[in-house]
Amino acid sequence: MRGIILAGGSGTRLRPLTSVHSKQLLPVYDKPMIYYPLSVLMQTGIREILIISTPEHLDVYRALLGDGSHLGIRLDFAEQVEPKGLAEALLIGSDFVGSEQVCLILGDNIFYGHRLPDMLRAEAARLDGCTLFGYPVSDPERYGVAEVDEDGAILSLEEKPANPRSNLAVTGLYLYDNDALRQAAELTPSARGELEITDLNLRYVDQQRARLVNLGRGSAWFDTGTHDSLLEASLFVQLLEKRQGIRISCLEEVAYHMGYIDAEQLIVLGKTLSPATSYGRYVLELAGAA
Ligand code: DAU
Repeated sequence: MRGIILAGGSGTRLRPLTSVHSKQLLPVYDKPMIYYPLSVLMQTGIREILIISTPEHLDVYRALLGDGSHLGIRLDFAEQVEPKGLAEALLIGSDFVGSEQVCLILGDNIFYGHRLPDMLRAEAARLDGCTLFGYPVSDPERYGVAEVDEDGAILSLEEKPANPRSNLAVTGLYLYDNDALRQAAELTPSARGELEITDLNLRYVDQQRARLVNLGRGSAWFDTGTHDSLLEASLFVQLLEKRQGIRISCLEEVAYHMGYIDAEQLIVLGKTLSPATSYGRYVLELAGAA
């Protein structure tokens, strides 16, 4: 399975924070936002990942993450010239995905849960069509909303409905079989001029080839679309990390735990981060070198 992180958009709702910066590089407590979705893909076992961003920001992502070899993964980069919709990521990434399955994740979505990596690996292994991940929220009208029956079958999917039929938001994490590339190419722009991911997902629902997994209790999901949700995500990460003495979505740790790099490589990464930072010390401690 190949991974795509969509990290473009105009970030209008977070201005002036995003007047010159890419939204998905803003800090979420102790690391850039994109570390969180990247760690989700890495923990799912995906090692070939395409990062899509705007032409003006792509070089900053390259400077931050390089080709991924230091983390034992391969990173490619591609431009989205204008924010023409989430489903366009599959068109931009079509050559990169080739004949593989694909996991698309939005660069501003933060997931946390102890059992999440195992669950995602299991879902990727059993993928047949499309798998969506739902999360109960108090403000569903801000999101794609799914209505499911008692067996989890999707009854309806709506993008930002004025009168939501449920409180189950569709998160920005999508697993697709290879047919998604063909189906995305058939989409037409919505009234707001975008290729809507919900339209693609609705095709799978109509074909009865869509599943929704409710992340529900035991995991946390944040989209960082507003100043408040951005701060809340930072506070959540700070609380967990301070209380437990661990780091969430530390790419160096994930790479080491997944066996993508060995202890020697981890030490090099820790030293590059500098032992003077708590993040660098944490990485060195993991390698038993601090
Ligand atoms: O966060 C989950 C939600 O993401 C889903 O529940 C919705 O179904 C889905 O449409 C999306 O809703 P948003 O309102 O969050 O979409 P937004 O337009 O804000 O785009 C999400 C992220 O993707 C944002 O960081 C900007 C980036 N983006 C967006 C578009 C439209 C791109 O990189 N390219 C684009 O063309």
